[in-house]
Amino acid sequence: MYATLTSIGAYIPTKCVSNKDLEAFLDTSDEWIVKRTGIKTRYFADSNQKSSDLGIEAAKIALQRANISHKDIDLIITATLSPDYINMPSTACIIAAGLDIANVPAFDIAAACSGFVYLLSVAKAYIESGMAKNILIVGAEKVSSVLNPHDRSTYILFGDGAGAAVISATKDKNLSILDVHISADGQYAHYLETPRMQSNENEHNIVQCMSMKGSEVFKIAVAKLTSEVKDILERNKMTACDIDYFVPHQANYRIIKAVGDNLNFKNEQIVLVVEKFGNTSAASIPMAMNILYEEGKIKKGCTLLLDALGGGLTWGSALLRFGGD
Ligand code: COA
Repeated sequence: MYATLTSIGAYIPTKCVSNKDLEAFLDTSDEWIVKRTGIKTRYFADSNQKSSDLGIEAAKIALQRANISHKDIDLIITATLSPDYINMPSTACIIAAGLDIANVPAFDIAAACSGFVYLLSVAKAYIESGMAKNILIVGAEKVSSVLNPHDRSTYILFGDGAGAAVISATKDKNLSILDVHISADGQYAHYLETPRMQSNENEHNIVQCMSMKGSEVFKIAVAKLTSEVKDILERNKMTACDIDYFVPHQANYRIIKAVGDNLNFKNEQIVLVVEKFGNTSAASIPMAMNILYEEGKIKKGCTLLLDALGGGLTWGSALLRFGGD
């Protein structure tokens, strides 16, 4: 039995925030942000929306496009760095309840921006071992809830959103998730973190904001993402020419460009949505795939190569043929 990705869906919050909007309260400029990151806008969820609300909307679309009933889902996994609650309940449990799915396992994984590739890896293993038949995977992020609005080095980079996919069992290897590789190195844990702190005024007031060593992450990202893609192509006896679309994690235009150039991808093969959405962490790859799908570019059998790096540090790559209609 093989695992195939049969559908993709996404949810984009309605509030669009431009670089100019950020200039009003941060010591930054549209020119600096565009030049250093390629980002022009990002979308922020409303104050009453949680990551699970975004994930539920994305999942509904993915289920409908997979032409599958929510009753057929036998596992739900969510990746998020901005869970609804600290530790419990998991965001996957909230999403399951919102979709009226019960009595199946639901859990979260914490792999930050590599979350979607980690989800694919777990889903592939569950299907190939016969432990599940139809899995809903969701990258759901209200990253704005863990950002410090006074920190210009992080606040400008991120956005909110969600992406979901259905992974099902198939006998057709040609339409399957051909290969997934994930890895991590905790020696870089402090490069990207949301420390759990208690404010002095009120010990129950937990303040959690992201901090990042941007230029250190940048250098590791270019090196790791390049070697990940080289390895997965080599392992599967493919070259850049065999890939229809390269869908990298959307963190920074300069990282994507450097990796794309290192690997000889043509511009038309590289999917770029960072300009519009910013970095939406675990939601970034499925949100990018969703744009391709809605533009009619992803067809059955289309070969996609994904790669990502994020807090942990974690990283990974996936090679798959789209199995949906
Ligand atoms: N607006 C204006 N100036 C800013 C700024 C902002 N938003 N953020 C930082 N600066 C300033 C810095 O203070 C620094 O000033 P100095 O030279 O006077 O000290 C200068 O710009 C250069 O900062 P630096 O951090 O070296 O810039 P950079 O070229 O490395 O770009 C990032 C910063 C964050 C855009 C870049 O490092 C990056 O994208 N890193 C990877 C981040 C990432 O992808 N994280 C998630 C991984 S999933």
